[in-house]
Amino acid sequence: MYASNNPYRPIRTEVLETIQETPTIKTLKLKPEESISFDTGQFIELTVPGAGEAPFTPSSEPTVKDVLEVSVMRVGKVTERIHTLKAGETVGLRGPFGSGYPLDEFVGKELLVVGGGCGFAPLRSLMYELFRRSGEFKKLLFRGGCRTPKDFLYRKQIEGWAKRDDLDMELTVDQGDGDWQGKVGVVTTILDGLKMDPRTGIAVVCGPPIMMKFATMKLLDLGFKKTNLYLSMEKNMSCGFGKCGHCRLGTYYTCKDGPVFRYDKISDNPNIWD
Ligand SMILES: Cc1cc2nc3c(=O)[nH]c(=O)nc-3n(C[C@H](O)[C@H](O)[C@H](O)COP(=O)(O)OP(=O)(O)OC[C@H]3O[C@@H](n4cnc5c(N)ncnc54)[C@H](O)[C@@H]3O)c2cc1C
Ligand code: FES
Repeated sequence: MYASNNPYRPIRTEVLETIQETPTIKTLKLKPEESISFDTGQFIELTVPGAGEAPFTPSSEPTVKDVLEVSVMRVGKVTERIHTLKAGETVGLRGPFGSGYPLDEFVGKELLVVGGGCGFAPLRSLMYELFRRSGEFKKLLFRGGCRTPKDFLYRKQIEGWAKRDDLDMELTVDQGDGDWQGKVGVVTTILDGLKMDPRTGIAVVCGPPIMMKFATMKLLDLGFKKTNLYLSMEKNMSCGFGKCGHCRLGTYYTCKDGPVFRYDKISDNPNIWD
């Protein structure tokens, strides 16, 4: 169900707060004029007057309907402008669009979540839901990596995850600093020795395309089935709901059939990682 009856019409949304998470990523707390419901993994389109529109995946708790958060990496025109927004300014919001994580299919299974860099944003929303329903899964594992310790989103919060009894977590950085006590190496280096059965376990992967590619290959090597891997795909988007064709991925529209795809559905597509 879209926040507005007309999926093209952005609804007026107030920026309540901005948080500088890393040198290039800011989190915005947003209050739409009408409350919105989203499933974890779905995305929204944010319109910034004078700059344009771009898709983002809420990083906040799906159960909170009146305020949502997005974490935005500064890469170009729209995201540069988003980084200048201050509390009290307004943006437009369309959506939510697409299909999110099929959590009911994960019930009773061992579940591994693998995140890299900006991929922590959608995954935080997923983790809120997994923690809320934690008793329903056989086991929960999280493996995450970033370039340097400064690039971790939600660092304080993630330190809290490390203390949870219902989560087996490990983090790594490509390059450490004086304070970093954890592992050093790309995220695939912490996928060995997982305490779960890869033949029956589910894995969710979200991050930059290169990380998703190598993590997927590694998980297949470890024995995970294509039908048990879920990826969040990012393609150029425009309408957001299957009308314009900008986001084609083989026979699918990423905006409508994704952005979360089961790997076996898209693995034959040659430009999946572009
Ligand atoms: C479903 C979906 C969910 C997303 N969720 C998030 C999120 O939660 N947080 C976040 O920071 N970003 C997210 N993105 C990526 C974000 O939409 C782009 O970074 C943004 O559109 C760039 O706009 P721009 O005008 O700032 O950059 P542009 O000026 O358009 O481009 C600058 C650079 O970014 C690259 N780029 C542009 N658009 C995309 C894109 N859609 N995906 C990847 N690279 C792109 C370009 O190739 C170019 O190198 C998501 C994208 C999709 C499709
Ligand atoms: S963005 Fe228009 S069809 Fe997907």
